[in-house]
Amino acid sequence: MDLSGTPAVELRNVSKTFTSAKLGETLLALDNVSFSIQRGQFFVILGPSGSGKTTILNLVAGFEPPTHGQVLAMGKPIRGPSWQRAVVFQEHALFPWLTVADNIAFGLRMKEIPKRTRRDKVAEYIDVVGLSGFADKYPKELSGGMKQRVGIARALAVDSDIVIMDEPLGALDAQTRAEMQGELLRILQHEKRKTVLFVTHSIEEALKLGDEILVMSARPGRVKQVFHLSQARPRSILTDPEILQMNVELHRLLHRDT
Ligand SMILES: Nc1ncnc2c1ncn2[C@@H]1O[C@H](COP(=O)(O)OP(=O)(O)O)[C@@H](O)[C@H]1O
Ligand SMILES: [Mg+2]
Repeated sequence: MDLSGTPAVELRNVSKTFTSAKLGETLLALDNVSFSIQRGQFFVILGPSGSGKTTILNLVAGFEPPTHGQVLAMGKPIRGPSWQRAVVFQEHALFPWLTVADNIAFGLRMKEIPKRTRRDKVAEYIDVVGLSGFADKYPKELSGGMKQRVGIARALAVDSDIVIMDEPLGALDAQTRAEMQGELLRILQHEKRKTVLFVTHSIEEALKLGDEILVMSARPGRVKQVFHLSQARPRSILTDPEILQMNVELHRLLHRDT
């Protein structure tokens, strides 16, 4: 079967409601959301807090089913978590009792990758994310930026098609964050044609990284607009006239709600 035209991820008229067990109230988190992500794209979801960004990621990761509509990966309905869709969490979620190397090896171990290959993969990704010399350190010995590098290495090492990132740089200070944005671009160059689904609430971050930026409305989460960016990265978001114009529009779109 030729899947070359099939999107990596597709949401078709997806709604998600949560029901509070205590009050029996229902909350509409996503309302008729449709979009598709082409293979190899860096796809950014930008939206205010509570607009359903994490909910979308949870559906794509297969942690939860939609209430209505369909969520597809490589043309097939998502029925649960899969190695094909690796997740990098906002709070790096490392195991504190494992070293950097063992944290990165975790998914490979679960996948029952033979020890030798595992060792090579771990060494490769420690290098890719710039943590050479830190293989035997524990998470508590690392800075925030370094922990997030471990989280990224762990997600990449399992050879997924799609990497899902939920505000992965959100907990970092401004300077480390800017540095990690550049690092992320560099790291992804090592990954041939990996599809990335990336959530942020930073307009600047979206403009620096995204091939496509999908803007969500405040709750209930709906698709407001999708922007396409073809500028090469790293981008100068302060001098490119098209990006400057998008910056103005994104501010207008995001702040009109509040
Ligand atoms: N498991 C859940 N149970 C009940 N409500 C939830 C649950 N997960 C998310 N929500 C609600 O759905 C809305 C969207 O949440 P979320 O996807 O986390 O937004 P975002 O990531 O954009 O900040 C919020 O109002 C949130 O409180
Ligand atoms: Mg969130």
